[in-house]
Order: sequence, then structure tokens, then C-alpha cells
Amino acid sequence: MNRFHLPESPETKQTFPADLLTGKVAFVTGGSSGICMNQTLSLMQHGANAFIIGRNLDKAQRAAGELSNQTGKKCIGHSCDVRNPHSVQEAVNAAINHFGRIDIVICGAAGNFLAPISAMSSNAFKAVIDIDLFGTYNTIKATIDHLRKSRGAYIHITATLHEKGTPLQVHVSAAKAGIEALSNVLAVEEGINGIRSNCIAPGPVRGTEGMQKLSFKGTTTEDSSPLGRWCTFSDINNLTLFLVSDAANILNGQVFRVDGGERHVQPTN
Ligand code: HXC
Repeated sequence: MNRFHLPESPETKQTFPADLLTGKVAFVTGGSSGICMNQTLSLMQHGANAFIIGRNLDKAQRAAGELSNQTGKKCIGHSCDVRNPHSVQEAVNAAINHFGRIDIVICGAAGNFLAPISAMSSNAFKAVIDIDLFGTYNTIKATIDHLRKSRGAYIHITATLHEKGTPLQVHVSAAKAGIEALSNVLAVEEGINGIRSNCIAPGPVRGTEGMQKLSFKGTTTEDSSPLGRWCTFSDINNLTLFLVSDAANILNGQVFRVDGGERHVQPTN
């Protein structure tokens, strides 16, 4: 029997009103490419201005120009290493100087490579923990006062790979599990100040650097996934828009897995 492939999700423009985020400002780490650049595009298509940071200034500024051209909204690209608390604070200060407020923070800056624990140096492990987990901590610390003022929302980009023992991913698995724990504490401590904190945990996502580098040699295919396709940027963008909108005002301290059920599939030999 031919298997059913569930169609792709609609573009967010078909799902949400164009003025959903008018007057809001998003601060996005890792916003120069991939998932977070696409999330930024969808936020801007619905009225937000954005401040994106990445390690490479030229790349961040080119991405910001592209996002502004596509949406007519303002986007600033800024260079920052999220591992350095002072660098993050300086970026947040620049965002406030430009826009006067921050309503949405997406923590997405991440590093990754494939290596077994037996061959991974402590510095290699630390590099990814520092970018993913410590970088998220630094971003929260630098933005929390602004989100208290705006009653804003955090979205942290995690993964599904730490739910099982994913080979060659000990550094990322530990970092992403830590981010989810961090988000839960943030949700509980800061809910009283009107801040919500949630995680989006993508499974395999089409067209990302992560999938090009990290798909495990055919063990994960679109056809073998329960819905017959991998996640797209549209799937993540729709969830992002929902989570930062008032429609999600009760959603706090949760991890939303965007994988079509992929994580439940038993590997076959
Ligand atoms: C083993 C490696 C390595 C590799 C780097 N290291 N690459 N070890 N295998 N392929 C080691 C280095 O030897 C060094 O340890 C330490 O890591 C730090 O490396 P540096 O290059 O000096 O550090 P830095 O310039 O800060 O770069 C860190 C980095 C970064 C993490 C490697 O370059 C990076 O993020 N690159 C990839 C970006 C990327 O793929 N982004 C997509 C993420 S996707 P020693 O001991 O020699 O000093 C994602 C999704 C997850 O995260 C879910 C997937 C399904």
C-alpha cells in the first residue's frame, strides 16, 4: 500500500493576521541563518522589528538586510559571541538603543559536530556547552529586565536527540537537556513577572546545516518518518508565532517537539 505523506504546513501568512506582532521587537541569537533566521522572517512578516546576532558580522548584516527587504520591517544585524556575557550585554544594549524595547527573545545560537565521547577533548565538549547552554544563560541574564517590562516571551531552540542516547552527540545532548531545565526554572521563577519561557525541540528539519552535517547515514529518512516528511521551516514558524502570541498566554515551561512523531520510531536493521 502506498503510504500517505501529510502535506506541508501552510505559510504563517495564511495562518496568522499580518498585524499580530505590530510594535513588538524580537532579539534573536543565531538569527543569521537556518531555523532562527526563518523564525525571524515570520515574526517580521507579522509586524515585528528584529535584532539578530551571530558571530560573523558580515553574515549577520547580510541576513538582516535580506530580512528587511523581504518584509519592509527593520532588522539590525550585530556581531556577538554568546559565550561572552559582556558581548551579549553589549548587543542587548545596542538593541535597546535602536528599538527601545524587547518583547520576544529566541535563544538559538548553537554549535555542533559529530564525535564519540572517547575521542572528544574536554575543550571540544566545553565549546558546545558554552555556546548552547552558557550562551542561553547569558542571553537570559542580559534580557530579563527588558522582558519583565514588556511581559515578554522566551523561546529556546533545543532538540529531540537527548531523549534517546544519540551516538556522537554527547555534547549537544547534554547542552540541550540543560537548556530545557533552565527554561523550566525560568518559567517558574519569572511567570509571576509576566514572562513565559518555552522550548521548541525540532527533530530532523529539511534544508538545515544540522541535517546536512548530522543526519545519520540513512537511519533517518523522510519516508520512514511517521508523517512521511521531515519538519519544515513553516512548521517551526507557525509554532513560533503561536507561542509568542496572546493565544498562548497559558503556555509556560513546556517543550514543544516538532518532529512528526519521529522520536518514537524504533530503528530497524
Ligand atoms: C572533534 C572538534 C571538531 C570535530 C571542533 N572540535 N570541531 N572535535 N570533531 N569535528 C574541537 C576542537 O578541536 C577544539 O578542541 C574544540 O572543539 C573547540 O574548537 P574551535 O574550533 O577552537 O572552537 P570554535 O571556533 O569556538 O568552534 C566551536 C564549534 C563551531 C562548535 C566547532 O565551529 C561550530 O559551531 N561549528 C558548527 C556550526 C554548526 O554546525 N551549526 C549547526 C548546529 S545544528 P581542542 O581540544 O582541539 O582544543 C544543531 C542542531 C542540533 O546544533 C540537532 C541536530 C539534529
